[in-house]
Amino acid sequence: MPRVFSGIQPSGSLHVGNYLGAVRQWARTQHQDALYCVVDLHALTLDIDPADLRRRTIDTAIGLIASGLDPDVCTLFLQSHVPEHTELSWLLECTASYGELRRMTQFKEKGAGQESVRASLLTYPVLMAADILLYDTSLVPVGDDQRQHLELARDLAIRFNGRYGETFVVPEAQVPAVGSRVMDLQEPGRKMSKSAGSDLGRISITDPPEEISRKVRRAVTDTEGTVRYDPADKPGVSNLLELLAAVSGERPEVLARRYTTYSALKKDVADGLVELLAPLRARVRELSRDPGEVAAILEKGAARARALAEPTLSRARAAVGLTPR
Ligand code: TYM
Repeated sequence: MPRVFSGIQPSGSLHVGNYLGAVRQWARTQHQDALYCVVDLHALTLDIDPADLRRRTIDTAIGLIASGLDPDVCTLFLQSHVPEHTELSWLLECTASYGELRRMTQFKEKGAGQESVRASLLTYPVLMAADILLYDTSLVPVGDDQRQHLELARDLAIRFNGRYGETFVVPEAQVPAVGSRVMDLQEPGRKMSKSAGSDLGRISITDPPEEISRKVRRAVTDTEGTVRYDPADKPGVSNLLELLAAVSGERPEVLARRYTTYSALKKDVADGLVELLAPLRARVRELSRDPGEVAAILEKGAARARALAEPTLSRARAAVGLTPR
């Protein structure tokens, strides 16, 4: 069975971009020998308050379980609980080149305008490659924005295998046909994200129904007044159609023909999201009352992950010529 791995940053509550672009797929692929990881070490590449990091890490894990990940079916764990990730990352840093890391879009975006950035922001995609390669992963369910990082993981695996002999499985990205790039509701030219944009542009899986409806009602569209699926010319309306498509399973072009007004479209998007997210929100509330249970799930997950990570790391260590310990 092909091994599945994916990760998410500990940004606290998940937004619908995370859910539709990635985590909903994770729930669907969890029966295929799957590992899912809250990548807490990645959060340290930017300035984050330690207490916030602790809280958001647990909240993110809760969001994943509430989104349908069953810890008895898949392996759910925290990246920092499996030290093999950082050790493999070093071996891969010695495989990657400075030039290819400097060219990564996310490095350029997050580093833009900053006087000084952490060295780890540059090497972040290498740690991400280590996350994936450590588990002999075949499939990585992610949103569209992670494609470039996945390409790097593939390049590093191929280069390492070429230099030192077959060591890593070369992974493939699995990007959903709809919902792979949910845009900000206020700035539809930019993807929905926890770290940028206003709260009004982002719907969290824990937003109450009236909040979801308000955000969708106020979503930026255009002045043309006709409902058409045209992401380049009509990014706001097309984003609403994509959201409805992701909720209903129909194609955005087909859905567009059913609407003559933006308000009718917005009403159906809001109702669809409210219905989709209601059970997730209820489950988050339940799980938040029992942090002990979540900690136990993560501890068990880390033990399972370590058992799988150790042999791959040993193989990589031996391949480059490190003396066995
Ligand atoms: P992160 O934490 O930004 O996002 C987690 C997942 O959600 C997807 N996503 C979106 N999908 C659609 N529309 C959006 N607006 C949207 N925003 C986020 C992302 O594509 C991602 O799949 N570098 C990764 C975390 C990571 C990782 C890994 C992923 C670290 N190691 C190994 C896969 C495998 C990140 O920052 O994702």
